[in-house]
Amino acid sequence: MKIAMGADHAGYRLKDVIIPFIESLGHQVEDLGCHCGDSVDYPDYALAVCEKVTAGEADKGILICGTGIGMTIAANKVPGIRCALVHDLFSAKATREHNDSNVLAMGERVIGPGVAQEIVSIWLGTEFSEGPRHQNRVGKIKELEDRFTLHP
Ligand code: RB5
Repeated sequence: MKIAMGADHAGYRLKDVIIPFIESLGHQVEDLGCHCGDSVDYPDYALAVCEKVTAGEADKGILICGTGIGMTIAANKVPGIRCALVHDLFSAKATREHNDSNVLAMGERVIGPGVAQEIVSIWLGTEFSEGPRHQNRVGKIKELEDRFTLHP
């Protein structure tokens, strides 16, 4: 898979640990920054990653900031993005199976690299449960998005 990754100044260290791990799983990573501790704005990186996913230039996206919360809020404003904030292994599996999440967010100030790697491994390795229940619910999320998206 092609994975787009982005982080702010509070998440780039974890991003830089996760990238070689993802590559070791056989995936390709596009690193959209940031690359140092200079203060930046997380919505800019959320947008860059989400645009790659919605354009089909990446299969999935991963976002990291201090808490993961700002990235999640910003990412879920982009039509077509279902971003899940995950800090435990159960949720990593459940959000792929139930929500078909296409972007994963984590907080560098919340979890360590070991747990983050396990989360990423499970999230990338779990398929959406194609059953009608979950498809119906994800379809309703799309309906909400269509209803509140302004069309020029
Ligand atoms: C940066 O200080 C911090 O606010 C940001 O990384 C993130 O946690 C926001 O939700």
